[in-house]
Amino acid sequence: MESLKDKNYVITGGSSGLGLSVAQSLVARGARVALAARREDVVASAATGLGELAIPIVMDVTDKASVDAGFDRASEELGGLDGIVTCAGLTFAYRIEVLPEERLRHIIDVNLIGTVFCCQAAIPRLRERGGGRIVTISSASARHREEFPHMAIYGAVKAAVEKFSLELRDEVKGDGIAVTCVSPGAFGTPIMANFEKEPTAEAYDAWCRDKGPNSDGMADPKLFGETVAHCLSYPPGLAVDFMEVRPNVPTPKR
Ligand SMILES: NC(=O)c1ccc[n+]([C@@H]2O[C@H](COP(=O)([O-])OP(=O)(O)OC[C@H]3O[C@@H](n4cnc5c(N)ncnc54)[C@H](OP(=O)(O)O)[C@@H]3O)[C@@H](O)[C@H]2O)c1
Repeated sequence: MESLKDKNYVITGGSSGLGLSVAQSLVARGARVALAARREDVVASAATGLGELAIPIVMDVTDKASVDAGFDRASEELGGLDGIVTCAGLTFAYRIEVLPEERLRHIIDVNLIGTVFCCQAAIPRLRERGGGRIVTISSASARHREEFPHMAIYGAVKAAVEKFSLELRDEVKGDGIAVTCVSPGAFGTPIMANFEKEPTAEAYDAWCRDKGPNSDGMADPKLFGETVAHCLSYPPGLAVDFMEVRPNVPTPKR
């Protein structure tokens, strides 16, 4: 496996949850990381917590100008780019019939369009270095029925991220750029902090009734970063195309 020491990565959503876990695993291997997220105070404090190998970048992945400016700054401050990990993402739990238009657009904007904008910004910079790696993030909600319910659009959008990643793989392979899509199961991150109370309670009832007994439980987000570090460490000429990482813990029956 290749060493990640002195390599440079942008991690979107790097201020929290799975993105922060990826940042911790990369910094532990001696890589430099730019953490990109919207909330300046949160991303600054996450970068400070990681030490001198991490810098904060304020970026909204739904805004192309913000993404381009963020990648400019990250490449300049890090000294070039060897890879990106697109962890910025969110979801809400609503039945399709009552999903507000604003939520619908937000889920698509951040998870899909944001991933595309970041890959567009990264490709020329990786090509400049003679290649690199792109890791995109799907979700077990794209393919498993026992995941938390009432997230149909999120699951559909993550399925689109998977297809996008496969197509991107073919487009950039000639430039020495490898694309991996990682699909996490449930990890205990703040992702549910923005969920609205009422539709979430409805989803939780449905989950306990129909799906909960088959759930795999919830994994510690600290474990996730190692899986992405593993994907980034493959020798040139080899790549993990798709990896699904789900909790493997006993779950009490409800
Ligand atoms: N946790 C799970 O169980 C799970 C399971 C499957 C897949 N995933 C996926 O894993 C990824 C990370 O989720 P997480 O659980 O780590 O969530 P999280 O703890 O809520 O972190 C989300 C991150 O994305 C950033 N973000 C949100 N909107 C953004 C925007 N418009 N522009 C830039 N950054 C933005 C957030 O920072 P700001 O709010 O400051 O921008 C934060 O850093 C997501 O793609 C999620 O869909 C998570």
